[in-house]
Amino acid sequence: MSTSHSDILPSHITHDISNIRLNKPQLRICCIGAGYVGGPTCAIIASKCPNIQVTVVDISSERIAGWNSDALPIFEPGLDEIVRKIRNRNLFFSTDIEKSIQEADLIFISVHTPTKSYGFGTGRAADLRYVEEAARQIAHISKTDKIVVEKSTVPVKACESIKTILKTNKHRGVNYQVLSNPEFLAEGSAIHDLLAPDRVLIGGDETVEGSLAIKKLSWIYEHWVPKEKILTTNTWSSELSKLVANAFLAQRISSINTISAVCEATGASVSEVAKAVGLDSRIGNKFLNASIGFGGSCFQKDIYNLIYLAESLKLEPVAQYWLQVIKINDWQRERFAQMIVQNLFGSVSGKKIAIFGFAFKKDTADTRESSSIYVCRYLIDEGASLHIYDPKVSSDRIYLDLSEQTGSTERDLNDHVQIANEPYEAAKDSHAIVVCTEWDEFAKLDYELIYSTMQKPSFIFDGRLVLDHDHLMSIGFNVFCIGKKPPKNQFTNQSPL
Ligand code: UDX
Ligand code: ADP
Repeated sequence: MSTSHSDILPSHITHDISNIRLNKPQLRICCIGAGYVGGPTCAIIASKCPNIQVTVVDISSERIAGWNSDALPIFEPGLDEIVRKIRNRNLFFSTDIEKSIQEADLIFISVHTPTKSYGFGTGRAADLRYVEEAARQIAHISKTDKIVVEKSTVPVKACESIKTILKTNKHRGVNYQVLSNPEFLAEGSAIHDLLAPDRVLIGGDETVEGSLAIKKLSWIYEHWVPKEKILTTNTWSSELSKLVANAFLAQRISSINTISAVCEATGASVSEVAKAVGLDSRIGNKFLNASIGFGGSCFQKDIYNLIYLAESLKLEPVAQYWLQVIKINDWQRERFAQMIVQNLFGSVSGKKIAIFGFAFKKDTADTRESSSIYVCRYLIDEGASLHIYDPKVSSDRIYLDLSEQTGSTERDLNDHVQIANEPYEAAKDSHAIVVCTEWDEFAKLDYELIYSTMQKPSFIFDGRLVLDHDHLMSIGFNVFCIGKKPPKNQFTNQSPL
């Protein structure tokens, strides 16, 4: 079903739109893919460039309906206000992919590129079928010249494939320039990251036409990004830089997580070590928070992508090096689950455990690759009864993720998983609270009240180092966390596990 701009407009703002149509936009952008990257990126472009018309399209009519409603399909702090202000002014969400491509001067490809789950490269290579489909659509529809911009994170040389598809399927006389412009936003801080990026990276052909296309894309960002922060490279450098940036960030987390295990065994504190190390300006203090492991749709996928590239290039030591970052991440998740079982006297079977947080990080409802899923799976395997609370993740999502992870039907899961509407309900009668996501609200709860409703002895396992452990211990909790040896007066290592 296609939707024209006037179809989706409430009558009271039709006037604004007619103004926009009268004042011809300087540039028309079509963004294919209305997801975590496409939606926020286009919202910021449209808000900073009133002279540009931006239309975000998607094959999912449900997603587009969401973007055109008061309940946006993704939660991102600050996004609602921006979208509300400019939607149907110069920012449009539509299922009319054909019309939007036809009209556009510049097209962002912003579709998902998950890890392949079939055939050659299973579990390693990026699945590029959505990118390919988008490229074929562009070639099939376009009757005028386009700049095609790859925004999704892709393996090196993906732009080359897009170029080939466009070239071999194009209408006569149509010219394409293909650019790589990876997005570095992080979920939860997407608006800030887009408004004040560390850099904008644009890769393109080293030809006259390529330079002109780069200039045009750069002109868009120059509406709000200082010119010196816009970096231009050749296409391959741009594609590889995105993978490497994510790999380096993930590597820091795995590095500090290995040290968290050393701290637990020696009496050092991982927060203190991270602070001392991070004060070295060559190292820097960011991304050194020990945790139950990194999640999200990017880190693991992009490292596998890099591993696959290294393997394809017969660079086995390089592949092995990066594989270790993922192995440590898996190990950290398992280690944390073991810490819980071990300290709950060697068994969680039949015990109620409150899980605080299911999203892969705070300030998002996204659960892709969330470490919480893995910790829950280990505890379910041990027979625990989980009561899960997350301020933003829906119960449907939680059941879906856990049934995928455990291979159980949602009905079978009901014996092991309940969803709580608030944290006090989740904690009531439980043996332990397990903090899996660092939501701010978890630090502000009334833990004296919570303690009074829990089984004794009461345990807290802080997988994110966000609670006041001394205060919790003064209430009577036994507190265990990543990266710190538990004090001697607690029930500890009760099991020979
Ligand atoms: C990441 C990159 O940061 C971003 O530049 C890229 O465009 C997409 O991938 P995102 O996955 O949204 O962004 O979130 P990020 O803030 O990087 O966190 C990823 C995971 O690492 C989360 O699970 C987070 O909790 C974890 N993390 C992060 C830590 O465990 N410790 C840290 O110090 C930082
Ligand atoms: P990301 O996190 O990379 O933004 P998402 O999965 O959130 O990824 O969003 C990708 C979006 O792209 C989805 O909403 C999906 O429906 C959409 N999509 C995939 N292929 C196409 C296509 N050929 N045309 C239009 N939209 C597409």
